[in-house]
Amino acid sequence: MSGSGGPIGFVRSILRILVSRPRIPASLEDNQPLRAVLERRSVRRFGRKEIPDHVFDAILEAGRLSPSTVNLQTWSFVVFGADSWRETFGRPIPFRGQRAVVVMGDVHRGRSILDALPRSPLVEYTVAVINASLAAMNMTLAAEAVGVASVMLSETGRTGLLDAGYLRETLELPGGVFPLMTIVFGYARGPRPPMPPKLPLREVCFEKTYKEADASVMEDWLAQMRAGYRAYRPLSSFGEQLGVYAQKIGQAEADLRAMVFPEP
Ligand SMILES: Cc1cc2nc3c(=O)[nH]c(=O)nc-3n(C[C@H](O)[C@H](O)[C@H](O)COP(=O)(O)O)c2cc1C
Repeated sequence: MSGSGGPIGFVRSILRILVSRPRIPASLEDNQPLRAVLERRSVRRFGRKEIPDHVFDAILEAGRLSPSTVNLQTWSFVVFGADSWRETFGRPIPFRGQRAVVVMGDVHRGRSILDALPRSPLVEYTVAVINASLAAMNMTLAAEAVGVASVMLSETGRTGLLDAGYLRETLELPGGVFPLMTIVFGYARGPRPPMPPKLPLREVCFEKTYKEADASVMEDWLAQMRAGYRAYRPLSSFGEQLGVYAQKIGQAEADLRAMVFPEP
C-alpha cells in the first residue's frame, strides 16, 4: 500500500502533509478574499482575546444574508458567548473558543405560511441542510476575512448532528428544527495548522462523466489521515475517531428521524 506501513511510510505521509499548500496562480497571489478562502483552516487552539461585538455581528450578518433555495432561509442559529455556553451546557466552549453558533436546519418557521407546497419530507430536509450549511460556510469565511479563526463541530463536545437529541432537549427545539453543527470562533493561538490531506483536483473534478476513484490515491489519502492523527492528536487515532461516530450514529439516526419527520 503506497504511503503507509512502518516508520518510513509514516514520515513520508507527514512530509506530504507539511508541504501541501493551496494552489494559487501567481497572478492572484495578492488577492486577499481568495487567500481567505483557500488558506482557511479548522483551528482547535484559541487564545483569550475576545471577539468584539461588532466583529461577531458582522459574522452573523454573513449567515443571515447567505444564499438559499427560493430564498427560504431554512436555518436558525443559537448564538453563545463563553458565559452563556457554560450556563447552558455546564462546560466551556470546546477548544476554549470565545463564541459559538449552533447552526440548525429549520423547516418549522416557514411551514405556517408555505402550505402551498406539498409535504415532501426528504426534499424539505435536504433543502434545509443545504441552506443552513451554506450559511455556516458564509459565517466561517466572513470570520476568516476579519482575522477570526473557527472550527465546525458535529461531534466534539456534543455539538451537532450526532447529538441531535441532546441538543433538542437542551435548546428546546420544536419539531422541524434540527441541529447540524456548532461553529466555534476565536482568535487562533499559535501558527495556522497544516492542511489536512485533500484529494487532488483530478479525483473530484470530471469532464463529462463520472470517473471511479484511483485506488492508490485513496490509499495515499488514508495513510496521510492515519499519520496526521498520530502526529497531531496522539491521544486519538483516525480509527478511534471513526469508532466514536459509529457508536453514536444509531441514536443520532433515530433522534433525527423523530425531529425532522415528527409523527402527525
Ligand atoms: C460539518 C462538519 C463537522 C465537523 N465536525 C468536527 C468535529 O466534531 N470535531 C473536529 O475536531 N472537527 C470537526 N470538523 C472539522 C473537520 O475535521 C475539518 O474541516 C477537516 O479535517 C478539514 O480540515 P480543514 O477545515 O482545515 O480544511 C467538522 C467539519 C465539518 C464541515
